[in-house]
Amino acid sequence: MDNVVLSSYLRNLVIGMDTKIPLITGEYVTPINFDNAATTPPLFSVMREIMTFSPWYSSIHRGKGYKSILSSNLYEEGRRVIKKFVNADKSKDIVIYTKNTTESINILSYILCEEDKKQIVLSTDMEHLANDLPWRDKFTVDYVKIDKCGKFYMKDLENKLLKYDGKVKLVTVTGASNVTGYINPIYKIAKLAHKYGAKILVDGAQLVPHMSVDMKPYDSPEHIDYLVFSAHKMYAPFGTGVLIGPKETFEKTAPVYKGGGDVRLVSHQFIEWDSPPSKDEAGTPNIMGVAALTAAIKTLSSIGMNILHEYEYNLINYAINQLKNIPDIELYYYDKKDDNRVSLISFNIKGIHHNLLAVILSNEAGIAVRNGLFCAHPYVEKLLNLSNKDLEYYHNNHDVPLPGMVRISFGLYNNYNEIDLLIKMLNKIARNKNYYKYKYKNILY
Ligand code: ALA
Repeated sequence: MDNVVLSSYLRNLVIGMDTKIPLITGEYVTPINFDNAATTPPLFSVMREIMTFSPWYSSIHRGKGYKSILSSNLYEEGRRVIKKFVNADKSKDIVIYTKNTTESINILSYILCEEDKKQIVLSTDMEHLANDLPWRDKFTVDYVKIDKCGKFYMKDLENKLLKYDGKVKLVTVTGASNVTGYINPIYKIAKLAHKYGAKILVDGAQLVPHMSVDMKPYDSPEHIDYLVFSAHKMYAPFGTGVLIGPKETFEKTAPVYKGGGDVRLVSHQFIEWDSPPSKDEAGTPNIMGVAALTAAIKTLSSIGMNILHEYEYNLINYAINQLKNIPDIELYYYDKKDDNRVSLISFNIKGIHHNLLAVILSNEAGIAVRNGLFCAHPYVEKLLNLSNKDLEYYHNNHDVPLPGMVRISFGLYNNYNEIDLLIKMLNKIARNKNYYKYKYKNILY
């Protein structure tokens, strides 16, 4: 398929592309959504599945009725579809349905934490807070450094694994950064972690929607022990995430959420937990979320994750090549042409606050971006070279606008025309800063 045909084919898979929005002038335009790293619009196939399944919707694992059995089957079939999508082990791994990546990591942090000893978890300087904060109160956490271009610093990982001398329980790392878009070398990291007796968790929130991820067999040194991701970033809203890992891990401990559906038998004297994954899914499960995710995976797989990755990779490189030439732009980060990245990048235009830039893009051109610290505060702070003194200042002065960046992140339905419009608008803003600053002098940063 040539690129133009592919682009239009992909765009037609997604809902809302032609739903116009108002600009500040009152004129209605076709919106441009460059905020897919936060959340993606739904696929038609996902919404069709929701409508098709709705007449059959019923309770999961709680009834003998025809619809209940059918719903339970769909729910269990979802686990098989997910495992196949990321090549999880058919018998040893389990898929636990959660709300999103954040909940998945929080649950795992409780499951892995042994109350009697504070073990070591290695996180990194480039994590989303969801892969940092849950570990802090239960483990001794150390952070693998980033290099001068903001990339994962493999040498530092090895140094830290050596320093802790076999005591690291888990290396937890993002598959792709939600700030720079860098794809981390997860298989090399896995190999190194295993060499020193640690397990690896990959936060796949920004990776799984954009490229093929393979958890690899258990006997491979590159095996990914735990993988988490969210459906809402892969065109399937309705509130589902997944936590995949060895059944063994979840057999040993009590579940984090306790209630109905996760037990075999309870009396006032004892609790007999169900076996995982049911044990870790207390309460009525989110079957609509599972139906949505399953449908999205089927559609993405039918296109081919490699085709999607290549399409989006070309888009981001096209954007970067033009962003570079915008006056006063700072790109975080552009190292060399073949940087391994998913389809996102962050930037600032010197002399214009990131919040103002995001507002102007929306108000004047209908372009949606995200700005700020992207829930990856320590990483953004490092990329912006903020000192501890700077951070103390922002911490103590709540009336001072926070530092940050603007981020563009593409989905499969974005195209070159949209990028051209963004570049045109950014050029206009960068060349007329004072005009825009005056026009928007009353906006709160
Ligand atoms: N973590 C999501 C983002 O980066 C919400 O926007």
